[in-house]
Amino acid sequence: MGGGRFGPVFAASLLLVIIDLCKGSTIGICYGRNADDLPTPDKAAELMKQHNVKYVRIYDANIQVLKAFANTGIELMIGIPNSDLLTFAQFQANADTWLRNNILPYYPATKITFITVGAEATEFNSTSLVVPAMQNVLIALRKVGLHKKIKVSTTHSLGVLSRSFPPSAGAFNSSYASFLKPLLIFLADNRSPFMVDIYPYYAYRDSPSNVSLDYALFESSSEVIDPNTGLLYTNMFDAQIDALYFALTALNFRTINIMVTESGWPSKGSAKETAATPDNAQTYNTNLIRHVINNAGTPAKPGQELDVYIFSLFNENRKPGLESERNWGLFYPDQTSVYNLDFSGHGSVNVITGANITSSNGTTWCIASLNASEIDLKSALDWACGPGGNVDCSAIQPSQPCYEPDTLISHASYAFNSYYQQNGASDVACSFGGAGVKVDKNPSYDKCIYMTAGSNKTLSTNTTGIPSTSSSLARKVHISLSMWTVGVSVLFSLANGIVQGW
Ligand SMILES: *[C@@H]1O[C@H](CO)[C@@H](O)[C@H](O)[C@H]1NC(C)=O
Ligand SMILES: *[C@@H]1O[C@H](CO)[C@@H](O)[C@H](O)[C@H]1NC(C)=O
Ligand SMILES: *[C@@H]1O[C@H](CO)[C@@H](O)[C@H](O)[C@H]1NC(C)=O
Ligand SMILES: *[C@@H]1O[C@H](CO)[C@@H](O)[C@H](O)[C@H]1NC(C)=O
Ligand SMILES: *[C@@H]1O[C@H](CO)[C@@H](O)[C@H](O)[C@H]1NC(C)=O
Ligand SMILES: *[C@@H]1O[C@H](CO)[C@@H](O)[C@H](O)[C@H]1NC(C)=O
Ligand SMILES: *[C@@H]1O[C@H](CO)[C@@H](O)[C@H](O)[C@H]1NC(C)=O
Ligand SMILES: *[C@@H]1O[C@H](CO)[C@@H](O)[C@H](O)[C@H]1NC(C)=O
Repeated sequence: MGGGRFGPVFAASLLLVIIDLCKGSTIGICYGRNADDLPTPDKAAELMKQHNVKYVRIYDANIQVLKAFANTGIELMIGIPNSDLLTFAQFQANADTWLRNNILPYYPATKITFITVGAEATEFNSTSLVVPAMQNVLIALRKVGLHKKIKVSTTHSLGVLSRSFPPSAGAFNSSYASFLKPLLIFLADNRSPFMVDIYPYYAYRDSPSNVSLDYALFESSSEVIDPNTGLLYTNMFDAQIDALYFALTALNFRTINIMVTESGWPSKGSAKETAATPDNAQTYNTNLIRHVINNAGTPAKPGQELDVYIFSLFNENRKPGLESERNWGLFYPDQTSVYNLDFSGHGSVNVITGANITSSNGTTWCIASLNASEIDLKSALDWACGPGGNVDCSAIQPSQPCYEPDTLISHASYAFNSYYQQNGASDVACSFGGAGVKVDKNPSYDKCIYMTAGSNKTLSTNTTGIPSTSSSLARKVHISLSMWTVGVSVLFSLANGIVQGW
């Protein structure tokens, strides 16, 4: 393909890149529903709102799900399953009807921004249908004037590449040329992203002798050098993304942005899948979120925006295959969390990361439990910042260092911890009716400094109902804990009553 053809597109996309950079990279979440025990879509939408999730990918256009996200402000990526590709590819009228009957009634209350037409088609031998179906969907959108608001693309597995290492040698598998050529032209012409599902987990699982776990988990202290470019890679995710950039560049499609439509790590697996643990899953996803939110880009494209969807919201019990397949979720179907994860990437919630966490010597912090209900968190936060808790909550006010991320869970975490530290760091001072949980990792981030027992910023505790003890003493008085717990929960509900009665 001639370079000339893409000249104007290139210039236009440069501008687009600049605009995109201002928006910043985003984190979304995949809401798969291949299970028979999931909460209703309304509850799932509520759960995502509670965690301040702003971007969600679904795999179809289920009406109940579309309705559940109405007026939530959450941006939705919807999907056309591979099994429907033939219908969409065959007749324009089918795409028109689908749009009119299944999408338009819910738009724009439900904020749909992407339609994925087929998923990982190269894995499912449906490549020949994808581009014709995409074209029909685009035409249908154009007829109703939505083609600029709703982008059309399709997702890929990394299997579209025949080479991914070193990244600079990244190349598409030539067997897919007849599929990819019209596809890439479509994406460039419509400024749609190249969507890819990236799973360092599989690379590690299938080749543990060649891939270090740390490298897959963004925890590596050593670097892998690309001999052709001299670029240094500290994690596999970046290397895989760059392999795609180089593959696109090799075909002269430099302007197409990449979007990661799935990435994650399972928390449980079969006996052979030793890396599928909650710890590794938490580490991978926490590091991934941080990496993305910091707009780090990749070695080949530093600072480049990259939107990523984490797979997946729930464990899905009907997925076939190895045990890990059913354990990608951040949440159990009962909506309790499999492990703590802070979607904001700012780490106010039980963050674990590689190098940058100050691990402590027996120091503990108290944060809000992801399992706590919104109402419990709200009451506890109000109580802690009110006369009952007597915590200085100025840091979580707008424009103060702990205001962002502006989520209930983050604000509650800050307030809980202050209360906890001011009250001798005793277990009971982190109870909050079950909404508090102790952690041994410092939750501080950026300029938001969480108090520690020794920290200077100790406030008056005159009006708390709990005797203030030194932390060393607190650890010795566990015997009286049960009595305290009773006392505190009574006090706690009393205080809630007062606060709510205002
Ligand atoms: C892919 O599908 C085509 C047409 O349906 C069929 O002829 C071909 O054998 C399939 N290839 C594989 C590898 O399944
Ligand atoms: C390219 O794709 C074909 C068809 O799926 C496959 O048989 C072949 O192994 C792939 N080549 C490489 C290098 O991955
Ligand atoms: C490890 O890498 C070597 C050299 O690249 C390759 O020959 C070998 O097949 C790889 N092993 C696995 C398990 O992938
Ligand atoms: C949430 O609840 C589940 C099940 O009750 C428990 O296993 C898990 O540890 C809890 N997570 C947190 C962060 O408290
Ligand atoms: C993380 O650690 C690196 C190296 O120690 C340092 O340069 C960087 O500023 C740290 N980042 C944060 C957010 O603390
Ligand atoms: C932990 O304890 C060691 C030795 O007592 C000390 O050198 C180190 O600074 C402490 N680290 C922190 C984070 O308090
Ligand atoms: C507390 O902070 C003040 C001023 O910031 C300082 O003068 C004092 O020494 C500190 N006290 C302790 C115990 O760190
Ligand atoms: C705490 O008690 C001291 C002495 O009893 C008093 O001077 C101070 O004003 C009290 N502070 C608050 C916030 O009540």
